[in-house]
Amino acid sequence: MTLSQVKDKLEKYGQEHLLKYYDELTATEQEALLAQIEATDMDVLEACKHREEMTQRGEFSPLAAMQLSEIEANRESFTTIGLEAIRSGKVGAVLLAGGMGTRLGSDNPKGMFNVGLTRELYIFECIINNLLDVVHRADTWIHLFVMTSDKNHESTVKFLTEHGFFGYKEDYVHFFTQEMAAATDYQGKIYLEEKGKLSTSPNGNGGWFISMKKSGLLELVHREGIQWLNVFAVDNVLQRIADPCFVGATIQKNCVVGAKVVRKNAPDERVGVICLEDGRPSIVEYYELTEEMAAAKDEKGDPAYYFGVILNYLFSVTELERILEKSLPLHIVEKKIQYLDEAGELIKPEAPNGYKYENLVLDMIHQMTSCLPFEVEREKEFAPIKNMTGVDSVESARVLLQKNGVNL
Ligand code: UTP
Repeated sequence: MTLSQVKDKLEKYGQEHLLKYYDELTATEQEALLAQIEATDMDVLEACKHREEMTQRGEFSPLAAMQLSEIEANRESFTTIGLEAIRSGKVGAVLLAGGMGTRLGSDNPKGMFNVGLTRELYIFECIINNLLDVVHRADTWIHLFVMTSDKNHESTVKFLTEHGFFGYKEDYVHFFTQEMAAATDYQGKIYLEEKGKLSTSPNGNGGWFISMKKSGLLELVHREGIQWLNVFAVDNVLQRIADPCFVGATIQKNCVVGAKVVRKNAPDERVGVICLEDGRPSIVEYYELTEEMAAAKDEKGDPAYYFGVILNYLFSVTELERILEKSLPLHIVEKKIQYLDEAGELIKPEAPNGYKYENLVLDMIHQMTSCLPFEVEREKEFAPIKNMTGVDSVESARVLLQKNGVNL
């Protein structure tokens, strides 16, 4: 695009301020800025003016989870099926590590955070140790795909390489980067993070499969005969990945996706609950639960909307390919966004100051034809690190790691 075409685009979307420093830039910087503006999808930014309308949902009904007692009764047969699938190379793991971890507030990628007390123990290391348990048990390597973003790719690769992938076989680790989206103030005006650069952030964890395809890694998935991808978050240091029992249960129940879930510890706990929406699997957010839904009981007398998702899903690759072209809803999320102030100084805000535009993996569940919610014991498998202290924090995760016998 020429400068004049860029100006037309900016005028159309009310984003003319993005050229404020244009004349101060070098020719290369000017070119880069024009290219970035050309590539930026500004239609999505309009969405922040219609936030309310976007949250329209269908009709919810409960979806029963496979509970611990049923899992225990069938553990052996599920595990045999799962191990068989893993040994025949049908299961891959996808680590979602493209987020900015703004709540944790560390400048490094979240996985580089050291949770150790008397020794170094990084979040990435905890996760790899958990996956290595299965590798040893199945006596086979499992392909591990790691999604990063432009913001943390280099440091993530460097860190893992320098640490010898914490014992994981390098040939089985594959990186890909996700797409970025512009970040705006509350009026939908894109921030500048440098005089010649729009403020961008990763576009949410929902684009992982599209990004994986764009990177060419789907060819490897096909070549290796991988039929299942276990997607999981970087920040749950206790989670079990490629868990044979979970894999086996999902296969045995003929479901196209399995979702690990935990019993909510309080009605207002901030986790999305697995359910049906218009008859298809879905996730209802804690703030979307009506009083009636919160009070509803199943036939055993337990709350009908009781099982929270923990961002650990096992997707059938065939199903993922089927939904590839389908678009996901856009989430407009309040976040802290670094920006240049009126004087051109970089500000790192202490509190949220605008919106990021994201697609979320949980919305992929609603595009699936069947889903097995698979209960896990939260004390054993759920220690998310979102904050430094308090709920879902480094502190709470340390307590849970120690309870599970991890030496810190
Ligand atoms: P969160 O939404 O909890 O993490 O993502 P975040 O965005 O890193 O953290 P905050 O909200 O700024 O504090 C859950 C998982 O999804 C990944 C994260 O890395 C984490 O594993 N994620 C999130 C991505 O891979 N890409 C994204 O764009 C967003």
